[in-house]
Amino acid sequence: MAALVRHVTVVGGGLMGSGIAQVAAQTGHRVTLVDVNNDVLKKAQASINVNLQRVAKKVYKEDPAAGEKFVAESLSRLNTSADLKDAVKSTDLVVEAIVENMAAKHTLFSSIDKIAPEHALFASNTSSLSIAEIASVVDRKDRFGGLHFFNPVPVMKLLEVIRTQETSEESYQAMLAWGKAIGKTCITCKDTPGFVVNRLLVPYMAEAARLYERGDASARDIDIAMKLGAGYPMGPLELADYVGHDTTKAIIDGWHKKFPDNPLFKPVESLNKLVAEGKLGIKSGEGYYKYKK
Ligand code: 3HC
Repeated sequence: MAALVRHVTVVGGGLMGSGIAQVAAQTGHRVTLVDVNNDVLKKAQASINVNLQRVAKKVYKEDPAAGEKFVAESLSRLNTSADLKDAVKSTDLVVEAIVENMAAKHTLFSSIDKIAPEHALFASNTSSLSIAEIASVVDRKDRFGGLHFFNPVPVMKLLEVIRTQETSEESYQAMLAWGKAIGKTCITCKDTPGFVVNRLLVPYMAEAARLYERGDASARDIDIAMKLGAGYPMGPLELADYVGHDTTKAIIDGWHKKFPDNPLFKPVESLNKLVAEGKLGIKSGEGYYKYKK
């Protein structure tokens, strides 16, 4: 029988980490959201407050009092902390959502492997790195897997659950059960670059950028085409602006380095230019499009 997850430690207070903390808290889990930067934690807490209100408005449309109760109870289950080692002392699951850097992830997991309880599961929300390589620094390789969420986490219904060759059946079942408990639909993928969604979505966004660079169609027309012709909620360049060009560039560069012969992973000129100019998409106010602050 898979172990029940009651307390979750989410490491990294960015967009993904705060979304993961929110959905865990709103589905009855005790959560500690950890970040080394207190300002990031304050921002995360503020965005969780706003996003919980959005959920409450939608789910409890007819009953505002129940909505308020839902928000208050969710918030009461959520703590923030800048002390990672203290946060994991009595946790059941650690979900890492920090910067996409192997060395940083190794430092994080090796620092808590001896401190977290024996039974605790470790997981990474990496978009593109190998789970087995991240897990290589810990002793609990059988209790390590990938839990890959999608932005915006409270809205996107999918969770990719990744098991390495060393992830035990019990740990895998516990991760699937937790995914279900937080209201996500889980799919499983081997520990391959980008798993399912990013392996398809990143080359798709890159190919749209190349189409734009060649001048085959305008950004607006590329996006309209995929929304109205393929039924996607956002066009590929809008989506690239939404995901953030620094994130997409880090993914493409990492894959290109590892698989230099794969033409799908070739660097994208316009993306590199935007990143060099600090135009990271919606979060910086400009990407392929300009956004009102
Ligand atoms: N928290 C809670 N609710 C939110 C939210 C958030 N952060 N963001 C949006 N919502 C809710 C809104 O309140 C709204 O609810 P309603 O239907 O009751 O009014 C609903 O979601 C729709 O939002 P909006 O009306 O503001 O906007 P849209 O209808 O245009 O939808 C979108 C926005 C959900 C982002 C939609 O455009 C979409 O699905 N886009 C594609 C997103 C996508 O592909 N994400 C995956 C990116 S890849 C990734 O994350 C992987 C990583 O590793 C790189």
